[in-house]
Amino acid sequence: MKFEYTFTLSGTVSHVCIQDEVPSINTLIVDHDRRSLLVCDVNTERFARAVAGDTDAALCVLAAGEAAKNWTSIEAILRSAHSAGLGRDGLFIGVGGGVISDMTSFAASVYMRGAAVALVSTTLLAMVDAALGGKTGFDLFDIKNLVGTFYPASHIYMPVSSLASLPAREWKSGMAELIKTAILDAEDKDGEFLALLASLDSTHTIKAGDTLVECIARAARIKGRIVQADPKETGAERIMLNLGHTFAHALESSVGLGQLSHGEAVAWGIARACDLGLALGITPPERAAAIMALLRSFDYELAAPYPVGNITLFMNALNSDKKKKAGKVRFVVPSAEGTELVSGERIEPALIARIVGAN
Ligand SMILES: NC(=O)c1ccc[n+]([C@@H]2O[C@H](COP(=O)([O-])OP(=O)(O)OC[C@H]3O[C@@H](n4cnc5c(N)ncnc54)[C@H](O)[C@@H]3O)[C@@H](O)[C@H]2O)c1
Repeated sequence: MKFEYTFTLSGTVSHVCIQDEVPSINTLIVDHDRRSLLVCDVNTERFARAVAGDTDAALCVLAAGEAAKNWTSIEAILRSAHSAGLGRDGLFIGVGGGVISDMTSFAASVYMRGAAVALVSTTLLAMVDAALGGKTGFDLFDIKNLVGTFYPASHIYMPVSSLASLPAREWKSGMAELIKTAILDAEDKDGEFLALLASLDSTHTIKAGDTLVECIARAARIKGRIVQADPKETGAERIMLNLGHTFAHALESSVGLGQLSHGEAVAWGIARACDLGLALGITPPERAAAIMALLRSFDYELAAPYPVGNITLFMNALNSDKKKKAGKVRFVVPSAEGTELVSGERIEPALIARIVGAN
């Protein structure tokens, strides 16, 4: 099984390849004189070693998870690159989930003013979202992704066999972004992608030609199309990827960073976006019902207010959303086909308070 396509981001061509196994380093380093550095975490080290094969490629192994998405890890990557003798023509290869892809791409973007980066994604979330689109970064001062650059990877490999060991919670996290992508696909006029997700086998086993593989391929293509149209989020396209995220980020802050998986918060946020879209007459009731049924089938917590966390903290976090325009928080809601961005002027604060369960 192999699925390939390319998209272009600010002049850089990104090759996406969905295949069964991890790629060999020899496929990644087309120019064999090029020095490379494999970056992974303790849970993805075996995939990085499989990429390296019997070569003596340099390896930088980091601690796993969001807590390691910090300057100390970036410094370790840069130090390893320097020790391994990478020049400006060196290749950084990030093997792991979104944390590894964001940090490896960031380090590559600043190393000698920019070295090439390739990614081997091993989580569902990285395959359908994080590895695509050129956003890089790390957390600083307890603020998620405070520092970052736009720096697209030249090659993004998605070895679906690696998903076999993904913990259930990480599956659920990636699945929420997959559902989000299916909702915002304006070209999916008959809801075929949502129906495909509804038919997924909940045991998460991957076989060649599996529906999940088809869903990953569709999501990767949709995200590629959106970011290609709006590489730096200055236009009208990329903001749509924020569906559910305005509510989700506020929820994550109010519960405490790292307490919920990102996808758990996004699923809850999509449910709130449906409530808002319904109240504003933008989301047709039957579409909201189909989305809610799909979210329920994956067993996400959808109650408002969210059972844990503090609603005052939640409202404060919501009102300091970093994607505000003219001081007003904007929301993306499902529309009849795809999604619509709703400006803050159109929304009464009391409506938001009701939807999130603050009164
Ligand atoms: N750049 C972007 O556009 C973008 C978009 C969405 C999210 N992100 C970022 O992505 C990050 C979240 O990514 P994530 O959910 O992949 O988290 P992650 O990278 O922390 O991976 C989740 C956990 O799964 C483990 N893991 C990875 N692959 C595995 C495998 N195949 N088998 C077993 N365990 C495995 C990891 O070690 C980690 O413990 C966040 O930091 C977020 O900010 C970036």
